[in-house]
Amino acid sequence: MVNILLLYSTNYGLSKRICEKIQASLCAGGQQAQVEPLVGHAADPRSFDAIVIGASIKHGKHHPSVLEFIRANQPLLESKPSALFSVNLVARKPAKNTPQTNPYLKRFLARCPWQPKLLGVFAGELDYSRYGPLDKHMMRFVMWINKGPTDFSTKVQFTDWDEVERFAGRVAAFASGQPV
Ligand SMILES: Cc1cc2nc3c(=O)[nH]c(=O)nc-3n(C[C@H](O)[C@H](O)[C@H](O)COP(=O)(O)O)c2cc1C
Repeated sequence: MVNILLLYSTNYGLSKRICEKIQASLCAGGQQAQVEPLVGHAADPRSFDAIVIGASIKHGKHHPSVLEFIRANQPLLESKPSALFSVNLVARKPAKNTPQTNPYLKRFLARCPWQPKLLGVFAGELDYSRYGPLDKHMMRFVMWINKGPTDFSTKVQFTDWDEVERFAGRVAAFASGQPV
């Protein structure tokens, strides 16, 4: 049985819920998995067999702490099976929902010293009612540029949970020593 650490960086909770879904799937398959915030995690990443980092996009970027964590832990991440997934709304478009086609993940990896073998991209959610006035208007601008919903009453989740489940299966196999 392998023990997997899932670290999330989130603004509105979805990346955490995706980690919890992966955790549930891993545990159902007989693995051990723990979900922790990337910033302020209590668990020691060195004591796990595999590490997964999940981070959402806000205003075109992952939180700076994601790259900081990677820089500080690069040898550790490279020493064991480790994976990265990104959550964003551009990924709701079929042409931009893979690691090879998602602009945020591609841009992040171009700056990232660690090149994870296992990558994922999941479409996020849009719920204007949860955002403060500035974020609400910024988000509407982003959606206008991307031809998405601009009505402030919009509340929609684009996440493909079956894809999350498939990703969890790949994490389980990878963490158990199988090639990606
Ligand atoms: C203020 C704000 C800015 C965002 N900016 C972007 C963006 O630039 N590009 C994008 O694709 N998604 C953007 N999103 C969408 C988020 O990535 C999406 O809502 C995701 O589900 C958030 O996940 P989280 O709850 O884990 O933070 C933004 C969301 C908010 C609230």
